[in-house]
Amino acid sequence: MLLLNGSKLPSVGFGSNTGAPPEKGEELEKVIDSAIQTGYRHIDTAFFYRNEKIIGNTLQKWFKSGKLEREEIFITTKLPIFGVHPARVDYFIKQSLSNLQMDCIDLYLIHFPVGCKFQEGAMFARDENGDILMEGRTDHLAIWKKMEEHVNLGHIRYIGLSNYNISQISTLIKSAIIKPACLQVEIHPHLQQRDLVEFCHKNEITVVGFSPLGAADYNLRMKTYLPEYQDQQLPNLLGNQVIQSIAKKHSKSVAQVILRFLIQSGVVPIPKSRNSQRIKENFNIFDFMLDEHDTAALQDLEVGEDARISNFKGLIRKIENHPDYPF
Ligand code: A2P
Repeated sequence: MLLLNGSKLPSVGFGSNTGAPPEKGEELEKVIDSAIQTGYRHIDTAFFYRNEKIIGNTLQKWFKSGKLEREEIFITTKLPIFGVHPARVDYFIKQSLSNLQMDCIDLYLIHFPVGCKFQEGAMFARDENGDILMEGRTDHLAIWKKMEEHVNLGHIRYIGLSNYNISQISTLIKSAIIKPACLQVEIHPHLQQRDLVEFCHKNEITVVGFSPLGAADYNLRMKTYLPEYQDQQLPNLLGNQVIQSIAKKHSKSVAQVILRFLIQSGVVPIPKSRNSQRIKENFNIFDFMLDEHDTAALQDLEVGEDARISNFKGLIRKIENHPDYPF
């Protein structure tokens, strides 16, 4: 368990954006059931994943059965990229509370520092060429103040950021009354973001790492948002020989070594899986320790920015030219 401003955040979470189709709730329900049965008590979702309702229904079922208390589950959700505007924060927080069927969200993050125009029903607003329309400069502080209001109203316990860079976080920290409790960013052995992690730890910001295993299903998932999505090259972390040899040494799997590496680096991993065996495997990481040789070899796998998977460029054309683009 890691401390999050005095409260506890389970040190591994379940990434719910597994690619299980949101329109067919049964598969995701089984996946969430399996995660809870395995022992995961930290579930990561987002309005953008379109699965909050299924998660809400599944958790309600567990609460009603008496086998799980609301207080035992730590739930994170996020202001979607088309909600990144001060005028839409109230609306999306209300939507998430209603979808999750909860009075209070444990952690609410701004999903991305760039905002897009919103069109009810379609999510993104598009121009005549079908390109997603972005907002102008993001008023991060005004959005944050709205989120602070919801903390004061008891709708949210902690607020934080996702996909923000050091400079953006520093600026926000200077004016925020309630400090960000968490930063969620992509972290895996090819993109370790050690400077960012160190900066967060110095500022008592818990770091959560998404796509820790290299998001092998990334292209498939992106096509569910944008059918014309062009496949991008993905790292083959699970086939990496250095990690394979460390895994062999500890009689663990490659995935378990990667997740252990993140935990020992002070990062909370949120692996995704639709498979109950792998859901268990990814949780079974507390009975071994990587030594300094393993850690050094894993640190050497750093590639840097070129290894970033979730850069949003394939989803939103020219997003990299937006002044609030973080990477
Ligand atoms: P599956 O759902 O079939 O298990 P990430 O968490 O980095 O986004 O990675 C998710 C991807 O990794 C999914 O394609 C998932 O496939 C796969 N995956 C998750 N856990 C494991 C594991 N323990 N071994 C191999 N692949 C895994």
